[in-house]
Amino acid sequence: MNDFVNQFWNWYVILFVLVSIIACGVLLWMQSVPTGGKGDTTGHVWDETLEEYNNPLPKWWMWLFYITVIFGLVYCAFYPALGSFQGMLGWSSSGQLTKELAKADEQTKPLYDKYMKMDLRTLAADKEGNETGKRLYLTYCMQCHGADARGSKGFPNLADHDWQWGGEPEAIVQTISAGRVGMMPPHAQIGAETIKDLANYVRSLSGLPADSLRVAKGQEAFNSVGCSGCHGPDAKGMQALGAPNLTDKIWLYGSAESSIIETITKGRTNQMPAWKDFLGEEKVHVLAAYVLSLSTGSK
Ligand code: HEC
Ligand code: HEC
Repeated sequence: MNDFVNQFWNWYVILFVLVSIIACGVLLWMQSVPTGGKGDTTGHVWDETLEEYNNPLPKWWMWLFYITVIFGLVYCAFYPALGSFQGMLGWSSSGQLTKELAKADEQTKPLYDKYMKMDLRTLAADKEGNETGKRLYLTYCMQCHGADARGSKGFPNLADHDWQWGGEPEAIVQTISAGRVGMMPPHAQIGAETIKDLANYVRSLSGLPADSLRVAKGQEAFNSVGCSGCHGPDAKGMQALGAPNLTDKIWLYGSAESSIIETITKGRTNQMPAWKDFLGEEKVHVLAAYVLSLSTGSK
């Protein structure tokens, strides 16, 4: 119920509502009283001879309006309509949404029970399951990963075969349930020249044009400054840390030398939110199967 900070607004609303309803009634009553004698006209003439009688509105018509006024007053007495007055029935909309959601969950429960009994790969190949998954995806995931799940800068593509955190069923469930925080530390301290060497080396790994002298120096630095500790000595990444494979043509932040330099200099921190508490295990299961289906092509 409304909690007004002071009584002024409470009474303001009550008066406003009551005066409006009563004013409607008074206006009606004024319209129903004849203002002239029987057979008088308003003085308007159309088409030379057509005149308008000055008669009140028909009785049955007026009564319909009176009934709406009475209904309004009765409604205000029973339901919350007057300031912070609860209404004589004590009805309230609070908790209604929770009740309705609980009811909806009750109805879909048998379906989710069935999905929970299917392992993720089987569910990923199930047409009906994927339709449910897609609906959930479009409600909860699309804002960040895109309607087609192909992602955008900083938001990974979920429809490819490249996985930052792992594409095994358990890894996907873990990602969605508990969320992930990807942390690439800033490396400004190693100096702009070394960073440029590294950027050239990283570009060369996926076959992009690079300065060969810098590539050689960058390769050395990759191990000596500790990049290999997270991205692996072969730069193929490490899913346990969310460190991306740097040898493929898939980029989270872009392949331009300037983007790579920015990544190395300033670092990157990125977060996938956790969903288990909000969506529950069943929905996470269905979503994980849907994500799996996107890359296995069994849509
Ligand atoms: C607020 C934005 C946001 C929303 C909403 C979001 N994600 Fe993510 N998601 C991310 C980010 C950012 C990452 C990458 C995290 C990182 O870089 O470590 C990510 C990563 C992932 C990954 C890991 C990809 C890989 O290559 O390992 C999966 C799977 C995923 N999200 C699925 C989902 C699903 C399913 C939903 C809907 C329930 C969802 N996401 C909703 C931002 C979001
Ligand atoms: C502590 C572990 C760690 C170290 C050390 C580290 N990285 Fe990273 N790096 C990551 C993680 C995690 C990400 C992904 C960040 C995200 O999720 O947004 C990343 C992202 C990147 C990217 C972006 C890839 C893309 O697809 O856009 C590049 C490039 C990169 N690192 C290069 C390097 C280089 C070069 C070094 C050495 C100077 C280095 N990293 C050191 C963990 C690390």
